[in-house]
Order: sequence, then C-alpha cells, then structure tokens
Amino acid sequence: MNEAFRLLIGSVGDDSHSVGTSLLEIAFREAGYLVKNIGIMNVLEDFFQRAAGVDAVFISCMNGHIDLYLKDFPIKLKKFNEKNTEPRVWYLGGNLSVQESDENLIKKYRKQGFDFVSPKPVSCDVVMERLMKDFYDKGIKKRRVHGKLPDETIHIPSLDIIDDTPMSEQVFFAEREQVLESWPTGQEVRDAEGEGVKKNHATAFKSMHNLILQRGGNGNRPLVQPRTGVAHTCDEIDILSHLRQNGLEVSSIQLDAASRKKMYRSAHEGVLRSEEGKKSFLNGYPVPIHGVKGVEKIVDAIDNPFQIRAGSPDHRLVYEIGLAGGASSLEGGFICYLFPYDKNTSPVESLSYWKYVDKLSRWYYKKYDVIVNREYFGPLTCFLIEPVIPICINIVQAILSAKSGVKCISVGLAEQGNRSQDIAALRVLEKMTRYYLGKYGFMDCTVSTVFHQYMAAFPKDIEKARDLILNSSITGALAGASRIMTKTPVESIHIPSKEDNAEGLRLTHTGLRMAMDEKINHTVVNRETVLLEREVTAIMTAIEELGRGSVARGAMRAFEEGILDIPFSPSRYNKKRLITAKDCDGAIRFVNPELLPFPDDIVDFHKEKIHQRMTRDRTGKLYEILDRDLTRIWKNDYTRWPLDGHYVY
Ligand code: 5AD
Repeated sequence: MNEAFRLLIGSVGDDSHSVGTSLLEIAFREAGYLVKNIGIMNVLEDFFQRAAGVDAVFISCMNGHIDLYLKDFPIKLKKFNEKNTEPRVWYLGGNLSVQESDENLIKKYRKQGFDFVSPKPVSCDVVMERLMKDFYDKGIKKRRVHGKLPDETIHIPSLDIIDDTPMSEQVFFAEREQVLESWPTGQEVRDAEGEGVKKNHATAFKSMHNLILQRGGNGNRPLVQPRTGVAHTCDEIDILSHLRQNGLEVSSIQLDAASRKKMYRSAHEGVLRSEEGKKSFLNGYPVPIHGVKGVEKIVDAIDNPFQIRAGSPDHRLVYEIGLAGGASSLEGGFICYLFPYDKNTSPVESLSYWKYVDKLSRWYYKKYDVIVNREYFGPLTCFLIEPVIPICINIVQAILSAKSGVKCISVGLAEQGNRSQDIAALRVLEKMTRYYLGKYGFMDCTVSTVFHQYMAAFPKDIEKARDLILNSSITGALAGASRIMTKTPVESIHIPSKEDNAEGLRLTHTGLRMAMDEKINHTVVNRETVLLEREVTAIMTAIEELGRGSVARGAMRAFEEGILDIPFSPSRYNKKRLITAKDCDGAIRFVNPELLPFPDDIVDFHKEKIHQRMTRDRTGKLYEILDRDLTRIWKNDYTRWPLDGHYVY
C-alpha cells in the first residue's frame, strides 16, 4: 500500500484551454502525488464538493477575471472549515487579473484564505517546493492510499440507442421549425427558399465542389485559403477583395465567439459597438446577426467559393443561414467541433446536431442539385497531436456524412512540425479516408484534403513566423494537400489585419513555388506512412468492433475506453490518459502507447522514441519535456522550421 499526498486541481472561468492544468497534473503524478484534475470551466462549488478528500486544492484562472469567480470564496471556505477541521492548503494561480497589480492580488487573496497566490504562471518546480513547505508547516502528512482518487469518468448517456442512420425527413423538418424560429433571421431562410436559394447557388465557380474537382487532388498546387471575420458585412467584403488580389482562392469567415455560443444578443451588441471601417469588436463575422442578406452580399461580391467556419457543437442555425445565402462549404463534425471546444455537451447530443447539418446538405442536393462540401476540423486541440487520432476522427465523421448522403468531403490535419511525419500523415489521411468510404460503399464521394499551417502557439519572432509559413507551405505542397489554411506573421500577437493576411498569402504562394525544387526524404516518409497506416487500421478496427454496426457508437465507446483520447481536450467525455510528446526530430509520439490497441512493435517504437528524447534532453521528468514542447516554438527557441533532424541536438 502506498502513501501519498492528495491534490485537487482545476480552473474557473470560460477559458477553454486546459494545457496548464494538464501539465500540472502530469508533473504532480510523476512526483508521486495522487491527483484529481477536474479540468476547465468549474464553479467554486465543484472544488468545495471534493475538497474534503484532499490535502491541497489548486484553483487556476487564465482569463484575467478572477474577481468574477471568487466572490463567495471567503464565505464558502468558512462554512467548509466548520465541517472539515483537518488541515489543508488552498492555492490560487494562472493569469489572475488584467487590471490589478500582482502585489494587490497576493495581499487580497491571501487574506481570503489562500496559502499561496501566483498572479502569473509559474513553473511546476516552484509550486512543488512551496507546497512541501506548506505541508510541513501545517503538519499535513502523506496518507495511505488505495489506488486512485474516485474515478469520475463520465459514461455517455443513451449510447445503446444511437446509430448511424441519417436523420429522417420527418424529424428534420420538425426540428427545422424550431431552429429557424430560434432567432429572427431564421425567417430569411424561409423567405429565400426556392428562387432565392437557386439564385445564390447559380454561379458554378462559386461552388467549392466544382473548384475541388478542377484544381484539387494530387499533382496540382494546393488551393490557398486565409481566415477572416469582422463585425460588418462591408468590411468583410473589403477584406476578402483585398485578399483576393493577394492570392486568396477560397473565401471564408470565422464565426465570432459570441455567436458560437449562441449568445446572439451579445453578438448584436458587438456589431453595434463596431463602427464600419474601424476596429471590430467581434473576433469573427456574426452570421446570425447579418442573416441570409449579409451572406448573400458577401457571396455576390466575390468570385470564388465561400465557406463558413466556426467551432462549437451546435451550428444548425448558422449553417441554415449560410447555405441559404450561397455558402457552398461548411466546417465541423460531431467529434471535431465538440471535444476541442466544449466541456459538458454529450457526444450523443452533438451527433444529432451534425446529423441535422448532413441532412441539410443532402436536402440541398435533392431540392436544388447543389453539392455542399463538408469539411472536418482536423487540428483538434492543435498541440502535440499524433496523427492517428485526427485521421480516425476524420474517417468516422466522413463515413457518417456519407451515410447521410453527403457527396463532397474534405478531411483535414494540422502541421505538427516534422516534415516527414506531416507528409505521411496527410497522405495516409487521404488514402485511408478513401479506403473506409469505399469499404462502406461510398466510392462516389469526392475526397480532398486540407492542410493547416501550424496551429499551436506561433513564434513571437516575426522573422521566424515568416519562415515557418514559407516552409509550412512547402510541406503542404509536398504532401499533395488539396487546400492550405494559411497563418500570418502576427499570429502570436493579434488577430491579423487584411495586410497581415495578405502577407501570409504571399509567403504561402512563394512556398508553394519553392516546393518544386524541394526533395522528400522518402525513406523516412515511407516508414512513417507504414507506421500510421497500421495505427489507423488498429484503431479503426477497435472502433468498428466496439460499435457493432455503428461507427458513431464505436467512436463514442472508444472515447469511453480511452482508445480515442485527445490531449488537452476540455470535454468531460475525454478520458485524459493518453500523453503525447515530441521525439528528437520533432515528430509526435505516444508516451503511453500501451493504452492503445497497437501491435507490440508499434508500442515499442513509441516508447523507444520517447526514451531517446528523455535521454538527449537529459531529464527523467516527463513534464519537463512537455513544458519544453509546449513553449519552445513561441519562445523562438528552435533552429529552423521544419524540425526534422534538429529539434533536440
Ligand atoms: N480574422 C482573421 N483570422 C482569424 N482567426 C480567428 N479568427 C479570425 C478572424 N476573425 C485565426 C487566428 C488563428 C486561427 C485559429 O484563426 O489568428 O490563426
């Protein structure tokens, strides 16, 4: 029987990033602590409910508004301490306030009962040292522990009743009533039905499907697409027109954060606060606020396909409006728009939203002969993503869309930084998606690929950021991507202006031209390709077995069992056991591959790669390596991009 200290960690606030607490969890586990990590978006009560069983409580807040969440802390602590008299420590840390000085914050929260307050992020070592001292001072001793703290892995409700069958027309039309009534611009969708929609989809070169058929696929240069999104329609048009002159080939908007959360009133206020031609108070284009008329104006003004991109589980209204207005491509799926963005929504609920979107796409085909392109967000949580995870998630979502009658599918992945692995990943993604679609009888689906330039924290050094974009484009071209989502040199600083975005496009086009003179390391790419294909086969086989006839159910069971597990996902339905890290060449490997249904030699391969990395980094501590992986790029602490051959030297 072991003895250990018991820790509770988690964060408060609306921030969806869970990297900091995940790292703390790993650091403390490695040091022998028993850790319960309750993830992001908690309220105070979540901590007090569990505090009785632990020796230390860590509350973190990253969004700079700690005062909003700790109002009741002193009262709650007093009540709690009346019932629970054994000693315990309370720690507070993160990015606590955007207004108050560090000194004030420390004084204020120490007075309220915290033993340690860190207004800015500090290293795990500092926290650990301080904790040992506090435990000693308060006479807190290790306890005998049996195994783990209570496991709160959440089982997915109603899993047995879900399957892959498309939404029936009856259910679709009934739900549609509610969706279109949920906000006034829903009525514009009704008004556009028939002639309006036909007109908005009449121009062949504004169809993403047509463009993909003409230009996409192997051998052709990838299409280039930047991200945009501001509060006003005319400004949006101005940006897209400017970018068109600088190499944009596919237009799109990002939905603003308020609309993603269906807070349409806030989005509306954001529009009112933003003056045309001036600073936008929204971080995207609010589709529901401008309605079908807004989207129509944009689509009218451009001469290429228009896509809507967002990020959260339920975009039924937004995509209704988008399609009615002439958008020909929609991003998202029941896994890729849930696990990276949301804590509480169940995958079963998310599945029903995306069956609706797929049904809607199918209905456009039936009624208007319009083929809607459906794309999945491959980057997931962006950090340290071993490609087998997004590849399998893309495949599952593609099968489901195809079963609903979708004919044009784009699968995506984000660059991770090792060129050979990135090239192999994109090729395997395309090949295996086609293989599985064929296996399920959907040979007629158009499959194309989307390569996202590096999506994790970007170098702060502008020159390094430029070099990254250039080389990223070379990788995308060598991989044979059908489309590239571009970044800008100011990525780490602010949302890009149209000029920043234009520079990103020009760098990308230069990289695409340079790719013609670049050579691929075929030996390494082939090794990575074989490895990944075997990994994909192993996980897809497990999903099919778990699903017994339904890939949706299989994927959800795979999440329950930790076979699908997305590092740093905020979702409570994510197991959070799988750990990934970079190897010496910057390729992503599994630290604990034994959790996955892989053949022994693949497990050994990953372990060996991580072992080599630890040896070369001269550390026995995993969290140190992860800390470096998560910070090295934005700290500009690397030689050049891509990282093959020199990530650790
Ligand atoms: N305009 C331009 N780029 C945006 N991004 C997100 N929203 C917008 C917007 N409104 C970009 C970010 C990041 C990526 C996730 O999307 O800069 O690169």
